[in-house]
Order: sequence, then structure tokens, then C-alpha cells
Amino acid sequence: MNKGPENKKEIHVSEEEIAKQYQYMNSIKEANAQCEMQTGRKKLAFLQSFGCQMNENDSERLWGMLSEMGYGEGKNSEESDVIIFNTCCVRENAEEKVYGHLGALKKQKMDNQEKIIAICGCMMQQGHVVEHIKKKYRHVDIVFGTHNLYRFPELLNKAVNTRSAVIDVDESAGSIVEGLPIERKDSIKAWVTVMYGCNNFCSYCIVPYVRGRERSRSIEDIVDEIAELGQNNFMEVTLLGQNVNSYGKDFAGNVSFAELLSEINKVEGIERIRFMTSHPKDLTEDIILAMRDSKKVCEHLHLPIQAGSTRILSEMNRKYTKEDYLNLIGRIKEKIPGISLTTDIIVGYPGETEEDFEETLDVLRKVRFDFAYTFLYSRRTGTPAAKSEDQVSEKVKKSRFERLLGVQNKISKEINDTLLGTTEEILVEGLSKNSIWNYTGRTRTNKIVNFKGSKELVGKLVKVKITDIQTWSLEGEVISW
Ligand code: 5AD
Ligand code: SF4
Repeated sequence: MNKGPENKKEIHVSEEEIAKQYQYMNSIKEANAQCEMQTGRKKLAFLQSFGCQMNENDSERLWGMLSEMGYGEGKNSEESDVIIFNTCCVRENAEEKVYGHLGALKKQKMDNQEKIIAICGCMMQQGHVVEHIKKKYRHVDIVFGTHNLYRFPELLNKAVNTRSAVIDVDESAGSIVEGLPIERKDSIKAWVTVMYGCNNFCSYCIVPYVRGRERSRSIEDIVDEIAELGQNNFMEVTLLGQNVNSYGKDFAGNVSFAELLSEINKVEGIERIRFMTSHPKDLTEDIILAMRDSKKVCEHLHLPIQAGSTRILSEMNRKYTKEDYLNLIGRIKEKIPGISLTTDIIVGYPGETEEDFEETLDVLRKVRFDFAYTFLYSRRTGTPAAKSEDQVSEKVKKSRFERLLGVQNKISKEINDTLLGTTEEILVEGLSKNSIWNYTGRTRTNKIVNFKGSKELVGKLVKVKITDIQTWSLEGEVISW
């Protein structure tokens, strides 16, 4: 097996560089400890993450570094000494939220000049955003991007010591970083990034411009991380990447995603494996077979279609037709009966006609997804689709969106209804948000099941009989564990 050693030399951030960051972490840790001795108060940090799981995983790395530097978790920005926004730019509303939050911090900074306000993530990889922040949000102390997240300790040192704004955005195609500390949010399920970046340049999407080119971590590094999770009683991993199906294509010798799944399937302690996001053009037969044959890989696939019309798919640069997609789904359902399918759909891509939209509804009815994540098309500066003159009006977009939800919700409910009375294996995650008496877990098909339980069940696989069905979740009774 080719584990990509050549690749490792070229694009990995050097061990010396990481060691340097640990030195910066140490020096802040000492300063913080001294301050705590003098004041009796631990320094606190507040981190808000926007966007996808990849960002959540980056935030876990930021937390790893913050903890290493001696920061505790603040409940809000008011009581915290360091405030970080890890931003997303996939859609305009995510950006607007960040500007709203940043604006609200102005007064806090005026009242306490010692507070450090940092902003990082995908939005910062866009030049026009950084310029806007420099002009309009002068109370921001640190700006950094996705490629140099590992340099946060150095940037924080600089900001604390110089008391001037530190802006550091790396516009290269990106690198791979190993060896950073991590503090995970959950103790049962973990995110594991297996590849970074995207080469697809779908015409509506900003991600390839802000997350750089596709680069895969070595199998060794991934398996080591997952083995450690297994030893630490984690039960489930979700492998992350913008396009996980093309894992390993950047190595000389082509290590495949299928091979990666089979390797991870052998890791002791881990009972469930999930992954996202898949691209239909790269979801090859060997991946379907690896899913079928790897016992721990769950019967769930998130496979974004984006639109049902072949004409729109071609405009989107998705590289498959409606028929290709339906065909692929047919093969998956045949090999993995009972698999649950979810998707992403964009409504109102430039030039989308009523007929095009009907094609999307037709796909929903034919595939019968368990769930669809639906988005109104959002114009992203710098992408080809943003230049189109043929933008669909907000009114039409919203009306199509509602119609789509109507069709999909009915299908989701009908699929869930078939589970009434069945027995499902669920991984118990903890207390349910609905009521303190109820516990919650997920089936292998990723459906939420709420049930009456007790805390000894948390982190265990238990058998539950499904007794009631909601559109978005199920209810059940524990029958064995
Ligand atoms: N507008 C709306 N939705 C988008 N997505 C990506 N870019 C845009 C955009 N400009 C959606 C796609 C993708 C998901 C993560 O976000 O459906 O799969
Ligand atoms: Fe964006 Fe397309 Fe890459 Fe997904 S595959 S991140 S939609 S460019």
C-alpha cells in the first residue's frame, strides 16, 4: 500500500514549525498562570463556530491550543479574555451573522482594551472580507485564515505583546498539519478530517477558493488518530473532507477511499464509521463494496445532488447527469438494502426554470431520500455563477424552496413510519434536548431516537423498539443492552 510518503515531505508543515508553536503556547501558559496567581481568576476564552463539521473540527483544534495555553471556557464574550469567531462563507447569511456578532463586540472592546478579539476561518481567506474588516471593524485584534490556523499561538503572542492588529492570511494552496493538540466536544463520537480542500470548482461554490487544493492525510496518521480514539472509549468516527471519495488521489500510487475505509474498519474499539461529503462523480463501485463489506461502516450515505435538471447540473460543473445520479443510487440501494440516503439541494441556481425545478422534485420522488438539506442559492463573489445575469428572484426561490420542503417532509415521514414496531440498534449519546428525563441516540442509519433511559447507557450500543414516529425523530423503548 502506498501511504504517500513523498506527499508528506512536500506539503506537511514541518515538525520544527509545530514545535515553535508549542513554545508560543508555553509562554502564554506561563503568563496566564502568573496572572491567575495574582488575581485568583483563570483566563477565559469564548469560541463561536459557524458552518460545517470541518469548521467544528478546526474549532476543536483551536480549543486544544487554548487549553494548552491555560484558558478555561467562558460562558459568553462578556466574561472572556479571548474571543474567537471561526467563520463560514458558503452562504451570505453565514457571513452576515458574523458581522452582526463582530459589531456587537465593539462596546466590549472599548470598555476593556485588554480583550483580544480574533476572527478566523473561511471568510478570512477572501481578500475583500479582510479589507472590509480592517476598515469597518477596527476593534478586531487578530485575523487569520484556514491554512494557518496552526499559527494561532504565535499570532496571539504577537497581539498580546504588541497591542496592535495582527493580520496573517496564507493564500497558498494549503498544507497538512499534524501534531496539534485537540480538545474534542464529545466523548463518544469524533470528527476526523481525512482530507483538506476541493478541486471541483462547482460554479456556485466558494469552498475551493478558501480551502485550497485537495490534499489527503496519510493512512498512517489517520489510523493512528482513530486507534487512539478507540483506546479512549470513543465509539464512532465521522471522516471529514469536502470530497472524501477522492481521498488519496493526490498521492503517487493512488491510495483509495475504499482502502481507507477497510483499514479503519479494523481499528479496535471503534464500532461505527461515517463519512462526509461524497461527490457522485467520485463514488466508485469499490467504495460501495467497501461500505457493504466493512461491518462498522454505517448504512447511511450523504450524497449531494444539488439539482435534478441535467442542464443545471452541467451549468453547475457537477460532471454527472440526472440519469447518472439515479443510476448510481440504484446500484447503491441494490448492494446495501435499507441504506438511508440524504442529500444537499440548491434551489434557484441562476437560470433555473420551472421545468428545471420540476426535475429536482422528480429526483426527490424517485430516490426517496430520508432527509434533504435544502439551500436557497446564494451569490458568492468570485465564483462563476455569481457573474450570471440570470439570477432567480428571491420570491421565486422561496416559493420553490417551500414546495420542495413540502414534498421532502412527506417522504421523510413516510420512510420513518415504516420503522414503527421495529427494533433498532442505537448508540446512546446522552440526554435529549427535549426533556431531562429522555435520553437520545442514533440508529446506524443516523436517525435520532429519544427514549426513557439512564446515564449508565451513555456511550453504549442498545437495542430499542420504535414506539412512535415524528418527522425528524423517533421514540422508543430500550429492550436490551
Ligand atoms: N448557495 C447555496 N448553497 C450552497 N452550497 C454551496 N455553495 C452554495 C451557494 N453559493 C451548498 C451545497 C453544498 C452545501 C455544503 O452547501 O449544497 O453541498
Ligand atoms: Fe463546493 Fe463542489 Fe467542492 Fe462541494 S464539491 S466543496 S460543492 S466545489
